[in-house]
Formats: sequence, structure tokens, C-alpha cells
Amino acid sequence: MTRDDLFNTNANIVQSIGQAIAKHAPKAHVLVIANPVNSTVPIIAETLKKAGVFDPRRIFGVTTLDVVRASTFVSEIKGTDAEKTKVTVVGGHSGVTIIPLLSQTGIKFSQEEIEKLTHRIQYGGDEVVKAKDGLGSATLSMAQAGARFTNSLLEALEGKKGVVEPTYVYSPVAAPDGAAWFSTNVELGVNGVEKIHPLGALSDYEKKLYAEAIPELQKNIKKGEQHVNKA
Ligand SMILES: NC(=O)c1ccc[n+]([C@@H]2O[C@H](COP(=O)([O-])OP(=O)(O)OC[C@H]3O[C@@H](n4cnc5c(N)ncnc54)[C@H](O)[C@@H]3O)[C@@H](O)[C@H]2O)c1
Repeated sequence: MTRDDLFNTNANIVQSIGQAIAKHAPKAHVLVIANPVNSTVPIIAETLKKAGVFDPRRIFGVTTLDVVRASTFVSEIKGTDAEKTKVTVVGGHSGVTIIPLLSQTGIKFSQEEIEKLTHRIQYGGDEVVKAKDGLGSATLSMAQAGARFTNSLLEALEGKKGVVEPTYVYSPVAAPDGAAWFSTNVELGVNGVEKIHPLGALSDYEKKLYAEAIPELQKNIKKGEQHVNKA
């Protein structure tokens, strides 16, 4: 089962939570961790739009775990300290939509290492699902990732400056290519999304990953939007 397969189960749950947020807490900052994040975030957005309370600065898909995994996998093969090994991961939160930007780490990799690491980062979540064999997905690492993002956002809402986390937001970064929701590093502030970081320089391999991610992301986003807007 992939994250996208979870759509059928989770789409209605997420939509009903969106309706409750619109009614009872329209100014809430909404952190969406339920998968498939690529589609559940647009579901929340469309639900809030329908209720007239959509603010793109307050909706976040939690993609922190991809960055946590990327740091862990890189440090495993390079012998670095995972906490200090920063890997930028952009795009979405499933399979080919996850784009690790290993060229921006400052660490040297062979092409074989890049391809193996990229695959492992893209499918790390599915590895866990397979290993648990019907008993669910990542739990402790998901809790850690969720807690890290929540704490960062709370600090930023209280006025701390320079808080940057990766998150899937309503973004201009890939919008010209047709993906309105996209994850990059985002500076958080008192209103939520403060400043969306650009992609930065990509290697040829990363440009290829980006080109593969976009059609899948478009499909995932459309699926979420259509779920809410179906007649
Ligand atoms: N974004 C991430 O990094 C990430 C990582 C891992 C898992 N996940 C996602 O997190 C979600 C939870 O995963 P899990 O492994 O803990 O699943 P789980 O099945 O163990 O737990 C889901 C919980 O939701 C409750 N629930 C079901 N319907 C509900 C409703 N209508 N309202 C409120 N609660 C309801 C269930 O009772 C259960 O306790 C899944 O969508 C999973 O894909 C996200």
C-alpha cells in the first residue's frame, strides 16, 4: 500500500476535520500529517475556501520526516552526525515527488550513492509500512517529526526570528510548472508562512527528479481538490 492508496480512507476524515476547523477555529494554523499529504493538504484548503476562511499562510503539510530520514541515511553511509547533517528535501511527500537535494549538502557523493540514497529517501516510509506488515506506518519517527514542526511553528508564532522548516505549502516555487502546493524550506513567522525559500541550484540529476515529480504532484493535488469540489 502506498501513501496514495490511503486517499480513500483518509480523504473524508480530513475533509470533516476541515469543516470542523472552518466552523470552530477558522483562524487556526492547520498542520496536516495524515497521508497522502500531497492530496490531504489541498483537501483542507478547498474545504476552508468553500467556507470562506482560507488563508494560505496557515496551512502546512508536515514533510519534516523526509528531512529527518535524509539526514539519517546520509550520515549512515558518510559517518557524519545525523543532527548536524542538513539535507534539503523539496517537492511532495510520497515516492517520486520527494526530491532530496544532495548536491546542496556540501558532501561529495558518487552517482551510485546519489541514486541509492534518493531511492531510499523517496521510499523510506514504504519500507516501514512493508516491515510492519499490516500494522500501520511510522509512528515514533512521525511523532518526532510532528513535534519538531509544531514546536518550531509555536516558537515562530511567539515572535522568534529565523525559524526555518521544510513544509508543503501554497507556494510560488513550482506554480509556473502547474503545482500550486510544494514543499521547500519555509521561514515561519507570527502569521505562519513568512518567506518561502527558492529551490536554489539543482544538479542535472535533481532537475530530472523535479521533472518526474511535477506530473505526479499535479495529479495528487487535483485528486484532493476534486474530492471536495465534486458536484
Ligand atoms: N506526514 C508524515 O510524515 C507521516 C508519517 C507517518 C504516518 N503518517 C500518517 O499519519 C496518519 C496516522 O498514522 P498511524 O500509523 O498513527 O495510523 P493508526 O491507524 O495507527 O492511527 C489512526 C488513528 O486515527 C483515529 N481515527 C480514525 N478516524 C478518525 C476520525 N474520523 N477522527 C479522529 N480520529 C480518527 C483512529 O482511531 C486511530 O487511533 C496516517 O494518515 C499516516 O499515513 C504521516
